[in-house]
Amino acid sequence: MKIGVCGTGRMGAAIAQRLIDMGHDASVWNRNSAKTRPLVDAGAKALESPASLVESCDAVVVMLLNDAASEAVYRGPDGILKGKLAGKLVIDMSTVRPDTMQNVGALVTQHSAAFVESPVGGSTGPAGEGKLFALVGGDKADVGRAMPILEQLCRRIEHVGGLGAGSAVKLAINLPLLVYWQALGESLTICKPLNLPADRLIDIMSDTAGTPRR
Ligand SMILES: NC(=O)c1ccc[n+]([C@@H]2O[C@H](COP(=O)([O-])OP(=O)(O)OC[C@H]3O[C@@H](n4cnc5c(N)ncnc54)[C@H](OP(=O)(O)O)[C@@H]3O)[C@@H](O)[C@H]2O)c1
Repeated sequence: MKIGVCGTGRMGAAIAQRLIDMGHDASVWNRNSAKTRPLVDAGAKALESPASLVESCDAVVVMLLNDAASEAVYRGPDGILKGKLAGKLVIDMSTVRPDTMQNVGALVTQHSAAFVESPVGGSTGPAGEGKLFALVGGDKADVGRAMPILEQLCRRIEHVGGLGAGSAVKLAINLPLLVYWQALGESLTICKPLNLPADRLIDIMSDTAGTPRR
Protein backbone atom coordinates (compact mmCIF):
# COMPACT_ATOMS: atom_id res chain seq x y z
CA MET A 1 0.00 0.00 0.00
CA LYS A 2 1.22 3.52 -0.76
CA ILE A 3 1.23 5.35 2.58
CA GLY A 4 2.37 8.92 3.16
CA VAL A 5 3.49 10.46 6.44
CA CYS A 6 2.82 14.19 6.67
CA GLY A 7 5.11 15.68 9.34
CA THR A 8 8.31 13.78 10.10
CA GLY A 9 9.22 15.25 13.48
CA ARG A 10 10.12 12.79 16.25
CA MET A 11 6.85 10.85 16.20
CA GLY A 12 6.17 11.12 12.47
CA ALA A 13 9.69 9.88 11.64
CA ALA A 14 9.31 6.87 13.96
CA ILE A 15 5.92 6.06 12.41
CA ALA A 16 7.31 6.41 8.88
CA GLN A 17 10.21 4.11 9.74
CA ARG A 18 7.76 1.56 11.16
CA LEU A 19 5.72 1.68 7.94
CA ILE A 20 8.90 1.20 5.88
CA ASP A 21 9.87 -1.74 8.13
CA MET A 22 6.42 -3.26 7.56
CA GLY A 23 7.08 -3.23 3.80
CA HIS A 24 4.90 -0.31 2.72
CA ASP A 25 5.70 1.92 -0.22
CA ALA A 26 6.24 5.00 1.99
CA SER A 27 6.37 8.66 1.05
CA VAL A 28 7.05 11.58 3.37
CA TRP A 29 6.69 15.34 3.59
CA ASN A 30 8.02 17.70 6.23
CA ARG A 31 8.16 21.51 6.40
CA ASN A 32 11.88 21.31 7.15
CA SER A 33 12.90 18.90 4.40
CA ALA A 34 16.21 18.00 6.10
CA LYS A 35 14.22 15.83 8.54
CA THR A 36 13.06 13.55 5.72
CA ARG A 37 16.64 12.60 4.69
CA PRO A 38 17.13 9.60 7.03
CA LEU A 39 13.77 8.25 5.85
CA VAL A 40 14.74 8.72 2.21
CA ASP A 41 17.96 6.85 2.97
CA ALA A 42 15.77 4.07 4.43
CA GLY A 43 13.74 3.85 1.21
CA ALA A 44 10.99 6.49 1.47
CA LYS A 45 10.20 8.99 -1.27
CA ALA A 46 10.17 12.69 -0.28
CA LEU A 47 7.37 14.83 -1.75
CA GLU A 48 7.49 18.60 -2.12
CA SER A 49 4.12 19.46 -0.52
CA PRO A 50 1.25 17.99 1.56
CA ALA A 51 -0.96 18.22 -1.57
CA SER A 52 1.45 16.15 -3.68
CA LEU A 53 1.85 13.65 -0.81
CA VAL A 54 -1.93 13.10 -0.74
CA GLU A 55 -2.05 12.68 -4.51
CA SER A 56 0.74 10.11 -4.65
CA CYS A 57 -0.56 7.91 -1.80
CA ASP A 58 -3.62 5.77 -0.99
CA ALA A 59 -3.51 6.80 2.67
CA VAL A 60 -1.77 9.58 4.60
CA VAL A 61 -0.85 9.58 8.29
CA VAL A 62 -0.66 13.15 9.61
CA MET A 63 1.55 13.79 12.67
CA LEU A 64 1.92 17.48 13.48
CA LEU A 65 2.84 19.49 16.55
CA ASN A 66 -0.30 21.45 17.34
CA ASP A 67 -3.39 23.30 16.07
CA ALA A 68 -1.36 26.02 14.30
CA ALA A 69 0.61 23.37 12.41
CA SER A 70 -2.62 21.64 11.49
CA GLU A 71 -4.08 24.92 10.20
CA ALA A 72 -0.99 25.53 8.03
CA VAL A 73 -0.69 22.01 6.65
CA TYR A 74 -4.37 21.41 5.82
CA ARG A 75 -5.35 24.88 4.62
CA GLY A 76 -2.03 26.25 3.29
CA PRO A 77 -1.44 27.04 -0.43
CA ASP A 78 -0.13 23.51 -1.16
CA GLY A 79 -1.90 21.98 1.80
CA ILE A 80 -3.71 18.67 2.17
CA LEU A 81 -7.03 20.23 1.15
CA LYS A 82 -5.48 21.39 -2.15
CA GLY A 83 -4.63 17.80 -3.16
CA LYS A 84 -6.96 15.52 -5.13
CA LEU A 85 -8.46 13.86 -2.06
CA ALA A 86 -11.32 11.82 -3.54
CA GLY A 87 -11.10 8.19 -2.45
CA LYS A 88 -8.11 8.76 -0.14
CA LEU A 89 -7.81 7.94 3.57
CA VAL A 90 -6.42 10.49 6.04
CA ILE A 91 -5.48 9.32 9.55
CA ASP A 92 -4.54 12.26 11.79
CA MET A 93 -2.46 11.20 14.81
CA SER A 94 -1.59 14.71 16.06
CA THR A 95 -2.60 15.76 19.56
CA VAL A 96 -4.79 18.81 18.91
CA ARG A 97 -8.11 20.30 20.07
CA PRO A 98 -11.21 18.18 19.42
CA ASP A 99 -12.78 20.96 17.34
CA THR A 100 -9.67 21.11 15.13
CA MET A 101 -10.16 17.44 14.25
CA GLN A 102 -13.88 18.04 13.67
CA ASN A 103 -13.19 21.02 11.38
CA VAL A 104 -10.44 19.48 9.24
CA GLY A 105 -12.26 16.16 9.21
CA ALA A 106 -15.42 17.79 7.84
CA LEU A 107 -13.42 19.52 5.09
CA VAL A 108 -11.57 16.32 4.12
CA THR A 109 -14.77 14.28 3.93
CA GLN A 110 -16.41 16.99 1.79
CA HIS A 111 -13.80 15.98 -0.82
CA SER A 112 -15.11 12.38 -0.78
CA ALA A 113 -12.19 11.13 1.31
CA ALA A 114 -12.25 9.19 4.58
CA PHE A 115 -10.95 10.90 7.74
CA VAL A 116 -10.08 9.32 11.07
CA GLU A 117 -8.53 11.04 14.10
CA SER A 118 -6.18 8.91 16.12
CA PRO A 119 -4.06 10.75 18.69
CA VAL A 120 -1.77 8.28 20.38
CA GLY A 121 -0.26 7.37 23.72
CA GLY A 122 3.36 6.20 23.71
CA SER A 123 6.51 7.91 22.52
CA THR A 124 9.05 7.25 19.74
CA GLY A 125 10.12 3.83 21.10
CA PRO A 126 6.60 2.35 21.01
CA ALA A 127 5.98 4.11 17.67
CA GLY A 128 8.98 2.35 16.14
CA GLU A 129 7.82 -1.00 17.51
CA GLY A 130 4.16 -0.63 16.50
CA LYS A 131 3.09 -0.40 20.16
CA LEU A 132 1.23 2.89 20.37
CA PHE A 133 -2.17 3.27 22.08
CA ALA A 134 -4.63 4.83 19.62
CA LEU A 135 -7.61 6.91 20.78
CA VAL A 136 -9.76 6.86 17.69
CA GLY A 137 -12.65 9.08 16.63
CA GLY A 138 -14.61 8.95 13.41
CA ASP A 139 -17.24 7.30 11.30
CA LYS A 140 -17.40 3.51 11.76
CA ALA A 141 -16.77 2.76 8.09
CA ASP A 142 -13.79 5.14 7.94
CA VAL A 143 -12.33 3.62 11.12
CA GLY A 144 -12.76 0.16 9.62
CA ARG A 145 -10.79 1.29 6.59
CA ALA A 146 -8.01 2.71 8.80
CA MET A 147 -7.80 -0.39 10.99
CA PRO A 148 -5.21 -2.38 8.97
CA ILE A 149 -2.78 0.59 9.21
CA LEU A 150 -3.56 1.31 12.87
CA GLU A 151 -3.00 -2.35 13.71
CA GLN A 152 0.54 -2.14 12.33
CA LEU A 153 1.29 0.95 14.43
CA CYS A 154 -0.54 0.25 17.70
CA ARG A 155 -0.76 -2.33 20.49
CA ARG A 156 -4.21 -1.08 21.52
CA ILE A 157 -6.91 0.71 19.52
CA GLU A 158 -9.93 2.27 21.23
CA HIS A 159 -12.66 3.70 19.00
CA VAL A 160 -14.28 6.09 21.48
CA GLY A 161 -16.82 7.97 19.32
CA GLY A 162 -17.22 10.40 16.44
CA LEU A 163 -14.67 12.98 15.30
CA GLY A 164 -13.33 14.91 18.30
CA ALA A 165 -13.89 12.06 20.78
CA GLY A 166 -10.38 10.65 20.37
CA SER A 167 -8.81 14.06 20.97
CA ALA A 168 -11.03 14.67 24.01
CA VAL A 169 -9.87 11.40 25.61
CA LYS A 170 -6.22 12.13 24.71
CA LEU A 171 -6.44 15.56 26.39
CA ALA A 172 -8.11 13.96 29.44
CA ILE A 173 -5.13 11.58 29.68
CA ASN A 174 -2.58 14.39 29.28
CA LEU A 175 -4.04 16.72 31.95
CA PRO A 176 -3.18 14.65 35.07
CA LEU A 177 0.23 13.91 33.52
CA LEU A 178 0.93 17.63 33.14
CA VAL A 179 -0.13 18.25 36.75
CA TYR A 180 2.11 15.35 37.84
CA TRP A 181 5.25 16.61 36.04
CA GLN A 182 4.73 20.08 37.52
CA ALA A 183 4.36 18.58 40.99
CA LEU A 184 7.42 16.34 40.50
CA GLY A 185 9.55 19.37 39.67
CA GLU A 186 8.39 21.07 42.86
CA SER A 187 8.94 17.92 44.95
CA LEU A 188 12.52 17.59 43.68
CA THR A 189 13.09 21.20 44.70
CA ILE A 190 12.28 20.24 48.31
CA CYS A 191 15.30 17.88 48.24
CA LYS A 192 17.70 20.30 46.51
CA PRO A 193 19.48 21.34 49.76
CA LEU A 194 20.30 17.63 50.43
CA ASN A 195 22.60 17.54 47.36
CA LEU A 196 21.60 13.97 46.55
CA PRO A 197 22.42 12.84 42.99
CA ALA A 198 19.30 13.26 40.85
CA ASP A 199 19.34 9.62 39.67
CA ARG A 200 19.40 8.39 43.30
CA LEU A 201 16.46 10.59 44.21
CA ILE A 202 14.48 9.42 41.17
CA ASP A 203 15.38 5.79 42.02
CA ILE A 204 14.04 6.28 45.57
CA MET A 205 10.85 7.92 44.37
CA SER A 206 10.33 5.27 41.70
CA ASP A 207 10.11 2.60 44.41
CA THR A 208 7.19 4.38 46.13
CA ALA A 209 3.65 5.55 45.42
CA GLY A 210 5.18 8.98 44.60
CA THR A 211 5.48 8.01 40.95
CA PRO A 212 2.87 6.67 38.52
CA ARG A 213 2.97 2.90 38.27
CA ARG A 214 1.41 0.40 35.87
N1 LIG B 1 6.98 13.01 21.34
C1 LIG B 1 6.17 12.18 21.99
O1 LIG B 1 6.62 11.36 22.82
C2 LIG B 1 4.68 12.16 21.69
C3 LIG B 1 3.91 11.10 22.21
C4 LIG B 1 2.54 11.05 21.89
C5 LIG B 1 1.97 12.06 21.12
N2 LIG B 1 2.76 13.09 20.67
C6 LIG B 1 2.12 14.12 19.82
O2 LIG B 1 2.60 13.92 18.50
C7 LIG B 1 2.64 15.17 17.81
C8 LIG B 1 4.04 15.36 17.23
O3 LIG B 1 4.96 15.37 18.32
P1 LIG B 1 6.54 15.25 18.05
O4 LIG B 1 7.13 14.88 19.36
O5 LIG B 1 6.81 14.43 16.86
O6 LIG B 1 6.89 16.79 17.75
P2 LIG B 1 8.10 17.36 16.88
O7 LIG B 1 9.26 16.42 16.87
O8 LIG B 1 8.33 18.75 17.36
O9 LIG B 1 7.50 17.40 15.39
C9 LIG B 1 6.48 18.33 15.10
C10 LIG B 1 6.12 18.23 13.65
O10 LIG B 1 5.15 19.25 13.35
C11 LIG B 1 5.69 20.07 12.29
N3 LIG B 1 5.23 21.44 12.40
C12 LIG B 1 5.22 22.22 13.51
N4 LIG B 1 4.71 23.43 13.22
C13 LIG B 1 4.43 23.42 11.88
C14 LIG B 1 3.88 24.37 10.99
N5 LIG B 1 3.50 25.61 11.41
N6 LIG B 1 3.73 24.03 9.70
C15 LIG B 1 4.10 22.80 9.27
N7 LIG B 1 4.60 21.83 10.07
C16 LIG B 1 4.77 22.16 11.37
C17 LIG B 1 7.19 19.96 12.42
O11 LIG B 1 7.79 20.36 11.22
P3 LIG B 1 9.31 20.97 11.26
O12 LIG B 1 10.21 19.77 11.42
O13 LIG B 1 9.46 21.65 9.94
O14 LIG B 1 9.39 21.91 12.42
C18 LIG B 1 7.31 18.46 12.70
O15 LIG B 1 7.12 17.70 11.55
C19 LIG B 1 2.24 16.24 18.83
O16 LIG B 1 0.87 16.54 18.65
C20 LIG B 1 2.49 15.55 20.17
O17 LIG B 1 1.66 16.07 21.20
C21 LIG B 1 4.10 13.16 20.93
